[in-house]
Amino acid sequence: MLVRQGLIPAAGSGTRLGPFTNAIPKELLPVGEKAVIEHVVEAMAGAGIEEIAIVVSPHKHGLSDYLGSGKRFGVTCTYVVQDERLGLANAVAAGEHVIDGTFAVVLGDNFFAPTTFLADLIAFHTSRHADATVGVAEVADVTRHGIIRPDGDRILGMVEKPAPEEAPSRLGAIGAYVFEKNIFDAIGRTEPGYKGEYQLTDSIGREIEEGKRVLYRQINGIHIDVGTPHDLMRANEWYLRENGHEKKGHPRTIQDGRP
Ligand code: G1P
Repeated sequence: MLVRQGLIPAAGSGTRLGPFTNAIPKELLPVGEKAVIEHVVEAMAGAGIEEIAIVVSPHKHGLSDYLGSGKRFGVTCTYVVQDERLGLANAVAAGEHVIDGTFAVVLGDNFFAPTTFLADLIAFHTSRHADATVGVAEVADVTRHGIIRPDGDRILGMVEKPAPEEAPSRLGAIGAYVFEKNIFDAIGRTEPGYKGEYQLTDSIGREIEEGKRVLYRQINGIHIDVGTPHDLMRANEWYLRENGHEKKGHPRTIQDGRP
């Protein structure tokens, strides 16, 4: 089954990248010759997605200036606004009125390579008839991720940014998901959680409690949450090296590109 729609949350504040992010949305900071969000849009277009809802916060005009109608990437971009920063679940809910079926969510400030990870995640979700599929990887720092309790290919529970001793595994959500429309009902039943915000991790938890089929898929390759100057540099170092921009003989400081 084809998945035609995608949603990219891009309404975060980017405080750890200030003062750049006082002037530019963090999703527009460059990885190589493209904004980090352009890599996400390319992954969506490559996975067959035709319509993308970009969730922005008020005053984040830069994103529509950069991506425009989406024509340049072979997609249609629609901009929806999250009025207040109330968490990732709330950001996804901001797009409910433009989503009409199965849809992929990829965070706009996360760098993934190769971009085929999304086509793989979607194919897995549709072939397994899941209600929700969470892209995960073994993460070095569980306190920065939603951590799953796995069982076979199912998720039995999820905890947002647990303390290391409370983490149910080392498999963390890395910002790529596929959902059916019923995620919006689960979001509507989600209470504020970690940091007093509406967490997507908790909405997925509600789906699990309600007996929905929630699966995970391990994503191979590179994933860097471009949240700090160091992560931004790391993503660029990896990208430039892989794309042949590195000077011969330059020492390689990233071995596998993983966080
Ligand atoms: C969000 C999610 C978290 C996920 C992470 C991936 O956190 O809440 O569950 O593991 O993205 O990058 P954020 O990085 O927005 O704080």
